[in-house]
Amino acid sequence: MSDVVDNPFFARLWTAMSSREPESLRRLRRENLAGLTGRVLEVGAGTGTNFEFYPATVSEVVAVEPERRLAEHARKAASGAAVPVVVSTDTVEQFADAEPFDAVVCSLVLCSVDNPDDVVRQLYSALRPGGELRYLEHVASAGARARLQRVADATVWPRLLGNCHTHRHTEDTITGAGFRVTAARRQWTFPAWVPVPVAEFAIGVARRP
Ligand SMILES: C[S@@+](CC[C@H](N)C(=O)[O-])C[C@H]1O[C@@H](n2cnc3c(N)ncnc32)[C@H](O)[C@@H]1O
Repeated sequence: MSDVVDNPFFARLWTAMSSREPESLRRLRRENLAGLTGRVLEVGAGTGTNFEFYPATVSEVVAVEPERRLAEHARKAASGAAVPVVVSTDTVEQFADAEPFDAVVCSLVLCSVDNPDDVVRQLYSALRPGGELRYLEHVASAGARARLQRVADATVWPRLLGNCHTHRHTEDTITGAGFRVTAARRQWTFPAWVPVPVAEFAIGVARRP
């Protein structure tokens, strides 16, 4: 279990990357948050890139971001957001709240936690019955790209990119925790022939029954 996330290199890199996101990714972020209502827990908020996309029907966002340099950026983004956002520097594993949430948001984060099965089970428990998990995650591909992902994960990729793992079967992790997926699709963010390990995304809604 992660107690501390302290990654100055990745914090600099992600701050630069998240300030120059392509419109295609911004569209996916907007889609992932559309129609949310009530109290929301956002896991690993990074620089707070999602905050501007929360609809006015959200009453509060509690965002956890344990990398303190990124949390600083997230707090700035929170102060300009249209809905109330509080940022905690807990890891998701440390985070606990007495009140259940109406929704949990994960974007580009289940690749980076040490044990996604445990984390998704914890998120299930943090939701009220009927509450929803919104996810936007890059996932394990098939064929030659799967081989490329396995090599990336066994070598430099997680070290350079804040513990990011490219070959994770995140949709299986979500259903394995007891969620019922009510909407889901895959989206390529690069043409399929471009040889990068992170290209295929899963976006969806999963409910706690
Ligand atoms: C690739 S970034 C994505 C940031 C943000 N979710 C987004 O969509 O832009 C992954 C984030 O997960 C955070 N993270 C890593 N391990 C975590 C943990 N155990 N608990 C909470 N956040 C974590 C990192 O600090 C980083 O901000």
